[in-house]
Amino acid sequence: MSKSVVILGSQWGDEGKGKLVDLLTEKVGAVARFQGGNNAGHTLVIGDKTHVLKLLPSGILREGVKNFVGNGVVVSPAALAEEIARVEADGVPVKQRLHISPACTWVLPSHIALDTARENAKGDKAIGTTKRGIGPAYEDKVSRHGLRLGNVCNPNFLEEQLRALLDYHNFILTKYYKVAGVDFDKTLDECLSYRELLEPLFVDVGAELIAARDSGQNILFEGAQGTFLDIDHGTYPYVTSSNTTAGAVATGAGFGPCYIDHVLGITKAYTTRVGSGPYPTELHDDIGKLLARRGKEFGSNTGRPRRCGWFDAVSMRRSVQVNSLKGMCITKLDILDPLETIKICVGYQYQGQELDLPPVDSQAFAACEPIYEELPGWQSDTFGKTNIEELPENALRYLERIAELVGVPVDMISTGPERDQIIAIRDVFA
Ligand code: GDP
Ligand code: IMO
Ligand code: MG
Repeated sequence: MSKSVVILGSQWGDEGKGKLVDLLTEKVGAVARFQGGNNAGHTLVIGDKTHVLKLLPSGILREGVKNFVGNGVVVSPAALAEEIARVEADGVPVKQRLHISPACTWVLPSHIALDTARENAKGDKAIGTTKRGIGPAYEDKVSRHGLRLGNVCNPNFLEEQLRALLDYHNFILTKYYKVAGVDFDKTLDECLSYRELLEPLFVDVGAELIAARDSGQNILFEGAQGTFLDIDHGTYPYVTSSNTTAGAVATGAGFGPCYIDHVLGITKAYTTRVGSGPYPTELHDDIGKLLARRGKEFGSNTGRPRRCGWFDAVSMRRSVQVNSLKGMCITKLDILDPLETIKICVGYQYQGQELDLPPVDSQAFAACEPIYEELPGWQSDTFGKTNIEELPENALRYLERIAELVGVPVDMISTGPERDQIIAIRDVFA
């Protein structure tokens, strides 16, 4: 029987979603992205080859798997064309495996200019966005004057819409931010040039996914970013501009919520965050530096250093609620190998009170102090282990304690960047 499984980030992104999606696509007929855009950077390591995917779903390397980009994704055709060329140069027949919704919102060069101008103007209050135009594109979607990819098939309509949109963008760029505007004729020509690429890729994504389900195939939904970057449930305003949580699958792919069977939260054995914003368990000491160094914690999209900290069970409890997580995949366990002791945040201290869930208000979230429990480390090698029996006792204790504090089981444990460096405890398609 068909199973539909959602894989998403349960922290601040970069939990290892790409690795898991690539691994699990062995068992599926279809993979779909449902939100975000090329702000994502999902790393797949297969043998000595590393692929970083931004817009392409992480099933793209598998023969026989259909890869869908759902309507909830914002797409820069320029970034898409560049990525397709890059992955095709590695011998992957991307265009044969890729299908896109014509209802995806279009990310224009002017969105990138607006994102950049706004971030620069904010100075030390900047969000630390990826400057890929994601926020401004979603704004135009919601304010109902954005372009959709499907408009490329109707050049007259596209020209009319683009003229009005660029008038508005250029007004803000030149008059408010006092930076250069974007040329209309050049942008129009560029937009129209993508018809050849895009038109053959267009499908009714929701209908295709339902058809795959009806024919008994398993389906994977690939989240981008992470729960605390969600526009509603994250640390607003230090968030991305989409819903990154499980509810977005239904709206962003046209696949009703009752068709979803399992939500797997990809969860680092510690925490990281790129960009600004509240982060209660952040470490500014040598252990933070060790996690960054061992974990190679540099953004796979922008190359920026990631902030690092201890595992946070309090925020994870929220993640379980918001996403209806049924299980966790704990990644990068191997990074903790040398530590003598390991801390887990078990509660927050806020205004003299102990909290076991993070406050809804972001300012309050930022003011929370972590309450830690300390566990003994294992100080032995877990890298590349594939069998639970090979894990040291203290590593098992650490994982068991996490599951207990968070309230959902550990379905899988990742012990290295490569596809087969995994310990599977429960089959998420069972
Ligand atoms: P994503 O955005 O959630 O797909 O994650 P990223 O690809 O941005 O970042 C995760 C990084 O950790 C990538 O470089 C992966 O190759 C790497 N990685 C994933 N799982 C593991 C693991 O279990 N151990 C180690 N050492 N690296 C891992
Ligand atoms: P994956 O899918 C980590 C962060 C940015 C910034 C904030 C807003 O690889 O986990 P945006 O450009 O989206 O407007 O930036 O969100 N951010 C991510 N952080 N992983 C990501 O994606 C991210 N995508 C956006 O750093 O703080
Ligand atoms: Mg990433």
